[in-house]
Parts: sequence; structure tokens; C-alpha cells
Amino acid sequence: MTRGELRYEGKAKRVYASDVDGEYIVEYKDDATAFNGVKKAQIMGKGEINNAITAHLYPLLEGAGIPTHFLAKLGDREQRVRAVTIVPVEVIVRNVAAGSFSKRLGIEEGTPLSRPVVEYCFKSDALGDPLINSDTAIALGWASEADLTRIRELALNVRDFLVPYFEARGVRLIDFKLEFGKLASGEIVLADEISPDTCRFWDAKTGEKLDKDRFRRDLGGVEDAYAEMLARVTQTV
Ligand code: C5P
Repeated sequence: MTRGELRYEGKAKRVYASDVDGEYIVEYKDDATAFNGVKKAQIMGKGEINNAITAHLYPLLEGAGIPTHFLAKLGDREQRVRAVTIVPVEVIVRNVAAGSFSKRLGIEEGTPLSRPVVEYCFKSDALGDPLINSDTAIALGWASEADLTRIRELALNVRDFLVPYFEARGVRLIDFKLEFGKLASGEIVLADEISPDTCRFWDAKTGEKLDKDRFRRDLGGVEDAYAEMLARVTQTV
């Protein structure tokens, strides 16, 4: 399988066309950004680790009945995926208050939520991914009502799979961000990645942060945290 033209370049990944109809190649970069691109750096080994973590989790999610774009890991930094059109709505699922939720609402970080909270943001680097609601997404034609119902259902199914999966490996899944895509058939599938870039992971015993907050908040030990999460994710329990 060979790379075709560059279709999309984001902050952490490049998406290429391929010589196979209906399939793309995703390349994971070491580039890290925070605060909407204001803070930039490279996290050594991040591309390989995020590729490996996503390539481990997506087949397990498929096994749990969640359709994804993932097809196969191609190399250290690359994976084959099904060609989708990305729905420009980022979906955040929260189990515990943290990050922008804590800041916006004045709720102390670490406060458990009595039920999962699903939030939507408009996927726009230029605007800093602003918070929206489902009416906004429907009114502006970014997703249909049926699409959003399905996206919410799948996002909660992802949560129901991941929370016990990480718990068994000594990690609390605080919150995470998902992106969904549409196949040519119209079917909604989970796209993008699930990694320390897109989730908050706290060590269950020590509370230590094992995710991108180490980079965002200058806590040090960024590479070690990513490597630790790869070890936890691939741990057999
Ligand atoms: O910053 P905030 O608290 O809204 O982030 C919630 C979750 O979504 C975190 O796990 C964060 O890593 C993830 N996120 C992301 N990409 C964004 C915004 C948030 O992966 N653009």
C-alpha cells in the first residue's frame, strides 16, 4: 500500500489518500500543541506511542460493537483507515470534572460527576474549537439529528468500554475527546485517535497525570507518561 496525495494535515496527524479505493493512510507526528496552537513542541516518540495505543484499542472497540475507521497498523507511525468525511463536531465525554469544564463552571478538578457529561465543540482551529450544543450543529448543517443521536450513543458506548478497561490497568479515565466520520454509505464510525493527547488519564493509586496535561501544564516527565500509558494499555490483566 502506498501513500497518495496529502488530504489533510492536523496538529498531530497527516491523512493521505492511498492506492486502495476507499482507504486512507494516517501518519502520526511527534508535534504537540496546546492552547489552540499557542504552545508548540515535539514530544519524542509521541507519534509511535499514539499510533500503537490507538491501534491496540480500536480493534477492541470494534469487538465491543463500536464501528471505527481503523483497519490495520502499517508501521511505527502509520495506520490504514477507512476513508471518511469527518463530522466537524468534537465530542467530549467527562466522568470527572477537569480542564475547561472545571474552569468554566468553577468546579474543583477531580470532582466526580454523577453521570457522564457529553459536550460538543465545533472542530475549528481558527476559532479554538468553541463549545456548541446539538441544535447549533444541526442548524448549521454539520450533522443531522439522527447522526448526533448515533454519535452520542457511540460516544457513551466507548466510555462504557474504556472506563473498566483502564480501571483494570490502574488508570482513571477522567475525560476524553472523540471524532466521528461518515463512510460513503452514510454510516457513522469512530475516527481519529484515542491516546494521551485526547484523554485525561490519572494513575488510580497516586493520582499522577499520565497524559498531555503534563505538557500543557509544564509538569515534566511527558515522554515517560506517554510510555507508561502504552505499557498500561497493552498490559494483559
Ligand atoms: O480542555 P478540556 O477540559 O475541554 O478537554 C477535555 C478532554 O478533551 C481532554 O481529555 C482533552 O485532552 C481532550 N481534548 C482534545 N482536543 C481538543 C480539546 C480537548 O483532545 N481540541
